[in-house]
Amino acid sequence: MTVNAFEAGNRGYKHKNLLFWLGMVSSLVTSIKREDRILDLGCGYGLFLPLLYEIYPFHRGVGIDFDIESINIARRNLADRGVNWPIEYFHSDEIQNQMLTESFDVIFGQEIIWWNNDLDQLAKKVFQLLKQNGKGYFTMGSHPEHPHWEKRRQQMLTNGIKSYTWSIDEVAEAFTKAGFSVGLRRLPIDGFFMYHPKATIESAGSLYSLVQTTTECKMLFYFGKHEPVRQTHTIR
Ligand SMILES: C[S@@+](CC[C@H](N)C(=O)[O-])C[C@H]1O[C@@H](n2cnc3c(N)ncnc32)[C@H](O)[C@@H]1O
Repeated sequence: MTVNAFEAGNRGYKHKNLLFWLGMVSSLVTSIKREDRILDLGCGYGLFLPLLYEIYPFHRGVGIDFDIESINIARRNLADRGVNWPIEYFHSDEIQNQMLTESFDVIFGQEIIWWNNDLDQLAKKVFQLLKQNGKGYFTMGSHPEHPHWEKRRQQMLTNGIKSYTWSIDEVAEAFTKAGFSVGLRRLPIDGFFMYHPKATIESAGSLYSLVQTTTECKMLFYFGKHEPVRQTHTIR
């Protein structure tokens, strides 16, 4: 099934990250299969897995976050949907990494990298959780090449969120060192950025700047747990 942003919104996926989730789904190098096990690492309020399930039904979906408040909201959101889909949410402390070793065919991480102060450890963990031939898709719009990053960092600090500055190449290096074949592309964003008179200006300065910087700077990493690619520049 193809779902565009408008239709996804009508189905209850009303969230500022909707265009990014759809962008990840449209960038998969191989589509999700019925028998696949999926992890949403840093799932936040958990809306991504139900959206993915509507597009590509899978065998099992797990969302993990180290914020218990978010996990409670994710569980409530799923229950409110009144569906019997194979999706569960866990706080990081509830689940041991060993229990999930080599459990997943695909791992998604939408804007989680800059939350982590130990990049090597994050890369190792993702490698450990993926099955052989598994694939990771991680977005990264918050990085030092983004012109609003410093301002955004300060805003987050004011809101009590501590962030870490990693460059795109530092991430590529850490995940390569962990054993991955690493790819990078711009995240395709297909839909309207909606204007809010206060929030748009506060976050990006102007609507034009928001569209310009997001389409330019929001990156999508591919982390493949397979043999190194023989030819650089493409995984196809
Ligand atoms: C910017 S939010 C994005 C949430 C969600 N992925 C989305 O697309 O809306 C980042 C979330 O990732 C979580 N997070 C970051 N690193 C994590 C990790 N290593 N393990 C579990 N949760 C993590 C944070 O607690 C936070 O809720």
